Amino acid sequence: MPLETVTTIAELRERLRPARRTGKSVGLVPTMGYLHRGHATLVDRARAENDIVVTSVFVNPLQFAPSEDFARYPRDLDADRSLLGAHGADIVFAPPVQEMYPQPIATHVEVEGLSVRLEGERRPGHFRGVATVVGKLFNIVQPDRAYFGEKDYQQLQVIRRMVADLSFPLEIVGVPTVRDVDGLALSSRNIYLSPTERAAAPVLSRSLAAAAEAIGGGTVDPRKIEAAIRAVLATEPQAEPDLIAVAEANTLEPVDPKAPPPAIALMIAVRVGRTRLIDQRVVAVP
Ligand code: PAF
Repeated sequence: MPLETVTTIAELRERLRPARRTGKSVGLVPTMGYLHRGHATLVDRARAENDIVVTSVFVNPLQFAPSEDFARYPRDLDADRSLLGAHGADIVFAPPVQEMYPQPIATHVEVEGLSVRLEGERRPGHFRGVATVVGKLFNIVQPDRAYFGEKDYQQLQVIRRMVADLSFPLEIVGVPTVRDVDGLALSSRNIYLSPTERAAAPVLSRSLAAAAEAIGGGTVDPRKIEAAIRAVLATEPQAEPDLIAVAEANTLEPVDPKAPPPAIALMIAVRVGRTRLIDQRVVAVP
């Protein structure tokens, strides 16, 4: 079936109605477009597990602070359509901002606690914007399953919590981060990097590898784990750490070295030039 492009909520609901009536399953891959191999992996997984695959492409203004890159966030719907067609998606839902937010939005989804810690402290309002648009997309598409990259690890945990708290009737599927050969996590924002910044950027994944090795060797003190990350980042003059978080993998609560959790999430945000890159790794405690 060729890829269809749909830009209104009414049209999408109309298009999905017969599928739903005949008991077909629907998988949703929410994205902000400028798709890369990481997104393709989400679409492949959705394709394998559902009868109908919908990908949304919507750069959501609610999740950007005024100082952030909403206006310059990269957009290329034609290229996105080629990738989605090649990976067998059925529908791309690409609404204009006016369709999603015809009036200033007064209703928000706030996942308390999880949303204001760590990355949420650095980016006030960000996870509220994410949870609100994702909740809205769930109501519009009513998918059986929705697919998210583990790279945005805190986002994934916020969405899981929202789905549990508000009883959204769907399954959230987290998909492992896809990396370039040198370890750099794929991201639409990698396009901002100059050649020398791109060469410096794999320091993020190297720093997480060092921390994973420390945990594997029995280190559970979060200060020591953080120090292992910082030591590697410090070897790269172009890398400026913004956030280094070592947390219990499900709740993102601080790690107590006297009662270590089964798994530790490492989450970092590092500025390389003007670009803020993030990476993550979940490490089982031996
Ligand atoms: O991860 C993203 O691309 C966005 O935060 C999402 C989940 C599509 C919501 O706008």
